[in-house]
Formats: sequence, structure tokens, C-alpha cells
Amino acid sequence: MNASDTSATMTPASTPFSTLIRTASHEAHTEAETSTFMSDLLGGRLGVEAYARYTEQLWFVYEALEADAERLAGDPVAGPFLRPELLRRAALERDLAHLRGPDWRATLSALPATRAYAERVAECAREWPGGYVAHHYTRYLGDLSGGQIIRGKAEQTWGFSRKGDGVRFYVFEGVSNPAAFKREYRELLDGVLADELERQRIVAECKRAFALNTGVFRELGEEFPLSA
Ligand code: HEM
Repeated sequence: MNASDTSATMTPASTPFSTLIRTASHEAHTEAETSTFMSDLLGGRLGVEAYARYTEQLWFVYEALEADAERLAGDPVAGPFLRPELLRRAALERDLAHLRGPDWRATLSALPATRAYAERVAECAREWPGGYVAHHYTRYLGDLSGGQIIRGKAEQTWGFSRKGDGVRFYVFEGVSNPAAFKREYRELLDGVLADELERQRIVAECKRAFALNTGVFRELGEEFPLSA
């Protein structure tokens, strides 16, 4: 075995980080995508109440992701990822006002799994910029990708107007070319200011982020079981 064979058995240093993180989370992605709740939602088998409850859960996650954004914008590791056109909280609030009415805050509540997820995001935002990047990637790149499938299904199933109130969360008005944006985002990942060990930790946190999402889907599935 020559020297290059040896390095190939470890994580090859030449693998772009964006590829590494996507490959490493592939299995967890499939699990989240095929969760009972998501399958029922995308299959049009759930009522708009389930969608509203899911949107509420997203509010807690984005509140944690975006509350510290201004401070993190100056951080050398997380800063480059913080783009104002990604911010979702205001869009979520418009959706919730549409779904729940003007008093949506009065009835807003986090499931235990959502609380755990939001707390972990807030902890990373406070203490670990690399971990924050893992959560940022997991949510925003997902919203720009599979989120568009969810938006289409939601419009179709519950009659929201195209890209209008109820689905604004999925509409990135400031991202005119999502494919180009994702390419640039992957370049940012490739250049993230982190050594090999830190990159491995970020990948592990990304898997944790997916697991936290799956936990929320599990609890939503329990709250909205399909009658046989
Ligand atoms: C039913 C739900 C979902 C569907 C249909 C879906 C679908 C997709 C699709 C088609 C892509 C590929 C887009 C591309 O190559 O540009 C993608 C990428 C992605 N999804 Fe999902 N997804 C779903 C749920 C989720 C969830 C729950 C998460 C995590 C919270 C997530 C996170 C991601 C991420 C981070 C990417 C980007 C992968 C990369 O290119 O690095 N997805 N999704």
C-alpha cells in the first residue's frame, strides 16, 4: 500500500467539506424525509392544523438561529454564513398570523423535542460557532432545497396562494437564483475556518441537527396520528 492509499482510508483531506457534510448526513436526511409525519404531510393526508403546528415549531428553531445573528455576523467562523436574505423569522411570523390569527403568540407552544432542538441551537450560537454552522447548514440549505417541495404541497393541499401568506417561510425573496446561492454556500463550507478535527465535530453536530429534527417529527406524528 502506498502513501496515497493510506490517506484514502482516513478522511481524505482532498474531499471538499461541503461533500463531506452532505455525504455524512445523507442517511439522516432520508430518515427525516421519510418520517411518518413528513410522509403524511406531503401525502396530503393531514389537515391544515398539523401544518400550522409544524410551522409553530419552526418558529422556535428560527428564533434560536436568528436571535444572535447580529453578534455572530462578526465571528470569523460563523460570520460568512450569516446572510440577511436567509432570515426566516419575519416570514414565519406572517405565516403564523395567517394560520392562527393576529393573536398567534398567545397560543404558541413548543413540543418537548422542539424545546430541546432550540436549546441546542441557542447553546451553539452562544458558545460554539462551528456547531452553529452545522445547524445553519442543516436548516437553511434544506429550506432552499426540500423546503420548495413542502411549499408546493402545502399550496396544493390547503389552498394557500402561490408563494403567499401561509408559505412565506419557504419563499426566499432575496435569493433570485437558488442553485447559484447553494453553490456559493457550498464554497463557504469548503472554506470554513476549521481544522480537520473541528470539521469532524461540525459533521457530528450536523447529524445531531438532523436527529433533533426527526425528534420533532416524531412528536408531531404522535400529536397528529392518522385514523386508520
Ligand atoms: C420531506 C421532506 C424533505 C424533502 C422532500 C427534501 C428534499 C431534498 C432535496 C431534493 C434536496 C436536494 C437539493 C439539491 O441537491 O440541491 C435536499 C437537500 C437538503 N435537505 Fe432536504 N428534504 C426534506 C427534508 C429535510 C429536512 C427535515 C432537513 C433538515 C432539517 C433537510 C435538510 C437538507 C439539507 C441540509 C440539504 C442540502 C444538502 C446539500 O446539498 O448539502 N431536508 N432535500
